Amino acid sequence: MTERTTERRKILVTSALPYANGSIHLGHLVEYIQTDIWTRFQKMRGHECYYVCADDAHGTAIMLKAEQLGITPEELIAQVKAEHEADFGDFLIEFDNYHSTHTDENREMSSLIYNRLRDNNHIASREITQAFDPEKNLFLADRYIKGTCPKCKTDDQYGDNCEACGATYAPTDLINPKSAISGATPIEKASTHYFFKLPEFSDFLKKWTRAGHVQDEVANKLGEWLDSGLHEWDISRDAPYFGFEIPDAPGKYFYVWLDAPIGYMASFKNLCEKKGLVFDDFWKQGSDTELYHFIGKDIVNFHALFWPAMLTSANFRTPTKVCVHGFLTVNGKKMSKSRGTFINARSYLDNLNPEYLRYYFAAKLSSGVDDLDLNLDDFIQRVNSDLVGKVVNIASRCAKFITKGNDGVLSNTIADEALWQQVAEASDSIADHYENREFGKAVREIMALADAANEYIAAKEPWKLSKEPGREQEVLDICSLGINLFRALMVYLKPILPAMANDAEAFLNDTLSWDGELHPLKDHQINKFKPLMQRVEQDKVDAMLEASKEALAAAVEQPASGAPASSPLSDEPLADEINFDDFIKVDLRVALITKAQHVEGADKLLQLTLDIGGETRNVFSGIKSSYRPEDLEGRLTVLVANLAPRKMRFGLSEGMVLAAGDKQGIYLLSPDSGAEPGQRVS
Ligand code: 2FM
Ligand code: ZN
Repeated sequence: MTERTTERRKILVTSALPYANGSIHLGHLVEYIQTDIWTRFQKMRGHECYYVCADDAHGTAIMLKAEQLGITPEELIAQVKAEHEADFGDFLIEFDNYHSTHTDENREMSSLIYNRLRDNNHIASREITQAFDPEKNLFLADRYIKGTCPKCKTDDQYGDNCEACGATYAPTDLINPKSAISGATPIEKASTHYFFKLPEFSDFLKKWTRAGHVQDEVANKLGEWLDSGLHEWDISRDAPYFGFEIPDAPGKYFYVWLDAPIGYMASFKNLCEKKGLVFDDFWKQGSDTELYHFIGKDIVNFHALFWPAMLTSANFRTPTKVCVHGFLTVNGKKMSKSRGTFINARSYLDNLNPEYLRYYFAAKLSSGVDDLDLNLDDFIQRVNSDLVGKVVNIASRCAKFITKGNDGVLSNTIADEALWQQVAEASDSIADHYENREFGKAVREIMALADAANEYIAAKEPWKLSKEPGREQEVLDICSLGINLFRALMVYLKPILPAMANDAEAFLNDTLSWDGELHPLKDHQINKFKPLMQRVEQDKVDAMLEASKEALAAAVEQPASGAPASSPLSDEPLADEINFDDFIKVDLRVALITKAQHVEGADKLLQLTLDIGGETRNVFSGIKSSYRPEDLEGRLTVLVANLAPRKMRFGLSEGMVLAAGDKQGIYLLSPDSGAEPGQRVS
């Protein structure tokens, strides 16, 4: 598609809604950065474009996580939303609205759509039998059932597949199945479920998926599913469930995936209320506005089958495009917690400039669905060579001759018209690349222009000319062109590097716009040059990886209650009441710390060697922030001696020492003097 610049398009854009029970990581950011670049580009081109998103706040996982933390689901989703918004903001992801699926707008919109589906006879209901946890009184999805693999007999495998031998099976095939939530043996239980009659939309979807709304490779995959026959989609869940109750079915809730995409509409509705926009302009059947959903390849069925079918039944417009991207790998492999390559947004931000990643992802993004690799050596090299070595270099080499030579006023002539034209005329081609989500191609073209600009400056050597009397004007003309070329490049890079563009605007004393032809600045006052981007340092990348590994180690060391290690104990509600039999299952022993040492590569852990009366234990404990190893040796403490050993990156941890603690400090528990190693504590 070629970009249409003449008319002012109305465009609504979304990214997938992140679940409200986990942190944003670099894998998520491929999508948000891709979408943000695309929407910033559309806005720069003068189109009326809105980018909305929300937290995906419903479902069993969120309900259970809140319960584990001893807070309400509403409290959990509010905390996580604040964290997500801070992470997105710091990565310069500029939503026009960030909402939640647990809102009035979404409840109303979900009911409206469900009622329309039902009135159009697209909802069926029937009884189905499922695994049920008789202790928690909860139906169990496959991932909440664990047992022994029926094929290779490995213990502790999930209800649908075995991690050891790769077999797939039904949870009923597991040997000795247990609820992963309570440990109870699941029973079979029947209940009524509600289904969306997806097969009735097969013909519509066969056409829709081949009409340019998805990439060809995605259409091919969808074609396989469509050819093998669609099934009715179960859109209900039984109580208890954190979500919206189905209007005409008390005790039944919308499945999280029913109201999640409706969350796109709800977030936009909320924006309409804030800005006085007309919701129907964007969502009514036959609307001439454009609707783009950016998603990962794992959720294509929800967006390119269920969603257009639901929208059609409910008499709303369908998406213009569902733009599917691949997954992120780090150093060529799947992100891994133990390698430290499972990097949270915050671990990155604590160490590195967000625009490095925005640039690197842009340079590697295409309109396809291939995975994108973050190779950390290449990341350092590419950002330093392209942004610092090429783009910033143009400005830093030229600025001083204008500031010193001509009080910061650019020349009124263009020293090399052909070169200026070459850079200015690339505008349409670069814009087309952005429009088509070929950001890698856009970046390559921009960097080729940066090379041309640098070659020009290198050939003209203004630093030499400036030493020759009488050639001041020539130096000014060369460097003014350099600054104008830099400005054009920054216009092209602005969707990717909004903060650097902002600093460049301050330096250039000009707004970087791209809503028409580019014209050079002449006789124009610029400001003093300040470095616009620092080099990426290897030690910062290393620190980020270390921080990621430690986040994992700290998670392993979480208190048994499941409360996050960072939450102050005083804020923690008391855990559920237990009986005496439960209590004496915990075997607490007096332990003598015979040796304490630092653990290489871990900021929070100490390695303790403990004597518990003739038996020696090795324990990793997250107490380093409050204790020096030498002060611990010879001290008594209390060990949970029958805790199952845990394999950590640094070795096996055989138990856990007891400590009180919060953000202010950690306080190791000790018996009064006289206690003997190995004595039972009760
Ligand atoms: O896969 C996910 O992370 C979902 N929370 C995405 C939802 S996208 C939309 F449909 F809401
Ligand atoms: Zn197996």
